[in-house]
Amino acid sequence: MNQALLFENLHFAYTPDSEVLRGITLGLTRSERVALIGANGAGKSTLLLHANGLLTPSRGRVIVEGQALTPHTLASIRRQVGLVFQNPDDQLFMPIVEEDVGFGPANMRLPHEQVAERVEQALRAVNALDLRHRSTHQLSGGEKRRVAIATVLAMEPSIMVMDEPSAGLDPRSRRELITLLGTLNHTLLIATHDLDLARRLCHRTVIIQAGRVAADSATVQLLNNKRLMRRCGL
Ligand SMILES: Nc1ncnc2c1ncn2[C@@H]1O[C@H](COP(=O)(O)OP(=O)(O)OP(=O)(O)O)[C@@H](O)[C@H]1O
Ligand SMILES: [Mg+2]
Repeated sequence: MNQALLFENLHFAYTPDSEVLRGITLGLTRSERVALIGANGAGKSTLLLHANGLLTPSRGRVIVEGQALTPHTLASIRRQVGLVFQNPDDQLFMPIVEEDVGFGPANMRLPHEQVAERVEQALRAVNALDLRHRSTHQLSGGEKRRVAIATVLAMEPSIMVMDEPSAGLDPRSRRELITLLGTLNHTLLIATHDLDLARRLCHRTVIIQAGRVAADSATVQLLNNKRLMRRCGL
């Protein structure tokens, strides 16, 4: 099958008494853009953290480009799947912006000029080139968000999994982000409360409710289904 990313019957619990993911199956074909929506606490972030092995399911599998995620494939899958965290502070850890964006490529042992090129391209893409020499910890929330996205772009993953990428962005940065994501060829899975972003970018939307897939269909159709949206706490 032409699946780029497949979650197969995923179960997960942070604590033994309450299961957060309760049998999620969800596949994305190559270059597909899918929005993941659902009420607070539904399990969206938890699901995304499974995409590159930051969490390990108690049952079920994650399959990336036909390869099951195991300790053995973890490193190669992390190069294929870029994850943008819900909180940019979880993503950024180097003191200076350009060091942070260049960290991944440098770690892949790319030559210095290529690292510099990727840093510039990635920062330019998120309209943050002017921030390159700034201290990461002194950025505003929206600036951090854009730099966090750049750190992932710089890795040139084929699949991008993004958790609330438009949260905290001003209207112009948000529009530019939507335009940018619309030009990417990546397979994209985007957890979001920004239904307008879902509508603009993703032909398909999946609703997660209490750790299960409650709906999976065309975005327009799903967002117009007021009764379904209300039933799912949206
Ligand atoms: N590290 C953790 N330890 C224990 N429970 C957690 C942890 N992280 C999340 N949870 C719980 O797991 C459930 C799902 O959380 P998750 O963050 O996946 O939800 P979400 O759909 O991303 O919500 P939001 O829209 O608020 O971002 C919630 O009940 C949450 O309280
Ligand atoms: Mg979340």
